[in-house]
Amino acid sequence: MGRRVGIDLGTCSVLVFVRGLGIVTREPSVVAKEVSTNKIIAVGNEAKRMLGRTPGTIVTVRPLRGGVITDYDVTLAMLRHFVRQSVPWFPPTKPELLIAVPASVTHVERRAVLQAGKEAGGGNVHILEEPLLAALGAGLDIDGPSGHMIVDIGGGTTDIAVLSMREMVTQASTRVGGDALDDAIVRYVRREYNLIIGEQTAEKAKMAVGSAFPTEKTEVEIRGRDLVSGMPRSLVLDSWGVREAMSDPLAIIAQAVRSVLDKTPPELLGDIIEHGIVLTGGGALLKGIDESIRRETGVAVHVAEDPVSCVAAGTKTALEQLNVYGRKRRMAGRD
Ligand SMILES: Nc1ncnc2c1ncn2[C@@H]1O[C@H](COP(=O)(O)OP(=O)(O)OP(=O)(O)O)[C@@H](O)[C@H]1O
Ligand SMILES: [Mg+2]
Repeated sequence: MGRRVGIDLGTCSVLVFVRGLGIVTREPSVVAKEVSTNKIIAVGNEAKRMLGRTPGTIVTVRPLRGGVITDYDVTLAMLRHFVRQSVPWFPPTKPELLIAVPASVTHVERRAVLQAGKEAGGGNVHILEEPLLAALGAGLDIDGPSGHMIVDIGGGTTDIAVLSMREMVTQASTRVGGDALDDAIVRYVRREYNLIIGEQTAEKAKMAVGSAFPTEKTEVEIRGRDLVSGMPRSLVLDSWGVREAMSDPLAIIAQAVRSVLDKTPPELLGDIIEHGIVLTGGGALLKGIDESIRRETGVAVHVAEDPVSCVAAGTKTALEQLNVYGRKRRMAGRD
């Protein structure tokens, strides 16, 4: 029997689920390559350690941005690496792949993912929307005619959807996610303290003291380069400053959630008020994000268990019921 494999091909991380084995890969979506030859030097964890630290002959790239492929060849190389590493297969039986895509991808972007899946060694390649998979992974019962709302805050995108009877009823997607929060911290530190810091430093500060809702003041020391002298300098940043830095992108996320609630039919709205909004994706780990969205919407908010894995975990259910999820999608003439 052939292998069935689910892949959450994210902007920040790639997770691979193999039926019968569980989630076997959880690595950053980063690739290091040699500039002159384009040869791939490292993928995933190994490449992430090189981010921002490579000599001039090597560059590290993140081949997806805003949840979609921006560098096809590098994405393909990365996908091939992860598929091989996770599922050694023997020709001629190729693994059946299910790849998650953001709900807002264009037709062209979907085709690119399908093609990359095939070229990376997939036999049949299926595509399903991230919010649907996130809902399945979070354990929501989306089979029946009852509304559930998922907010998946990833690195590149925040995908928001109301689901009922295995379909998205209303949906919105914004290209504001964790990366945008990091960028906002970089800009804030430069503006307020004349200090240039890297994205990774900003991300560390966000994880250490960042919060979307006022909390007790905590501090973190960061290092960067002084804008004026060009010399290295360190700085103590506190949680209030980081929250201020992130306020604009956080407001965009909250606004997007409200916009989906606005266009949701009243019956489903009632269900959502009853069930609460469920947060998934790495961004759901930001402190206070649940409380901040609750305040903005007036609806209870729950963070899913292990939010980073929800999409990959959801591929388990979808792969078990490919007759439901696979065929239905094809009938809709989408792929
Ligand atoms: N503890 C934490 N606090 C705040 N943010 C966090 C935390 N852990 C992870 N993140 C953020 O979560 C984001 C990555 O989430 P995730 O792995 O779900 O993204 P992705 O699926 O790769 O992206 P996308 O779905 O947009 O393609 C990053 O921006 C990361 O900084
Ligand atoms: Mg994601």
